[in-house]
Amino acid sequence: TRTPVNVTITGAAGQIGYALLFRIASGHLLGADVPVNLRLLEITPALKAAEGVAMELDDCAFPLLRDITITDQLNTAFDGTNVALLVGARPRTAGMERGDLLAANGGIFGPQGKAINDNAADDIKVLVVGNPANTNALIAQRNAPDVPAERFTAMTRLDHNRAVAQLAKKAGVTVEDVKRVTIWGNHSATQYPDVFQSVVGGKAGFEAIGSDQAWLEEFFIPKVAKRGAEIIEVRGASSAASAANAAIDHVHTWVNGTAEGDWTSMGIVSDGSYGVPEGIISSFPVTTKEGKFEIVQGLEISDFSRARIDASVAELVAERDEVSKLGLI
Ligand code: NAI
Repeated sequence: TRTPVNVTITGAAGQIGYALLFRIASGHLLGADVPVNLRLLEITPALKAAEGVAMELDDCAFPLLRDITITDQLNTAFDGTNVALLVGARPRTAGMERGDLLAANGGIFGPQGKAINDNAADDIKVLVVGNPANTNALIAQRNAPDVPAERFTAMTRLDHNRAVAQLAKKAGVTVEDVKRVTIWGNHSATQYPDVFQSVVGGKAGFEAIGSDQAWLEEFFIPKVAKRGAEIIEVRGASSAASAANAAIDHVHTWVNGTAEGDWTSMGIVSDGSYGVPEGIISSFPVTTKEGKFEIVQGLEISDFSRARIDASVAELVAERDEVSKLGLI
């Protein structure tokens, strides 16, 4: 029998946690033959709620679930961790400036990065979901100097999946027929969902949407970028199940690989590709194989795409400068 994989989830008692844990325990994160130990990190007042979730996990009698640890201690939570899903974060509240938001999250992701550095397994893989995800990931990464930088990633897979769904609808094909979509830049309203490299129903993506530039600019790009706000307005609560699903997809693809001829989008430490400044955590088109990923190289970037990528990257650079000024990295 295989040794269980240690999976740490922060913010485990939150709404994404609730949509995430049962799928991890049933084998959707790593594979239907991989047993897991769950480590649930919460802030002290939410420990009781986390215990309630753990009771429900017990009640599912999942064959793959070996052990559950519930803690508010970072070193316990990340002890021997193989996969860390950093979900809990400080949300933006009314009147909060960007600097306040970044400082509050620095107080969470800095110590978590250090605890990962000091306690996690050698093969640690980190996905940051909690917003602002890219810069939180950067803070954690920079506080974990002994961990290879590429192990820290930020989630843009929800944006990627949203873009795939919108393209499939527009072109009248199934989502399986939508390939090579890219989310560039920040997981924020400045992100750029790129259809120009995509293949939709076997055709060039732009052609498959009827070469409809107006639809692209006025509907598709804002639809994907602002979908989170739309969900809040319509559902009355922020996206949780789709966010959890995207986190599962992100790690599953990272571990198990992208399909031949396709790629995915991940926020990763830039190596300078496509003119994105080295060191910031930006979303790129990536292929994955055997637990490693590579940025897809050689794509032709039009002026239209370039301007949008640059705008989102400029926002990331500003966030990086701000956390640097605050001494968080
Ligand atoms: P939630 O408020 O329901 O749950 C967050 C949980 O984190 C709470 O239980 C809270 O007690 C816990 N928490 C807060 N600080 C913590 C700390 N220092 N250590 C451990 N736990 C801590 O929020 P929800 O809906 O689950 O969302 C979580 C985060 O995910 C938010 O930051 C949200 O903006 C982000 N998000 C990111 C998406 C993406 O595409 N990257 C998509 C959707 C949400």
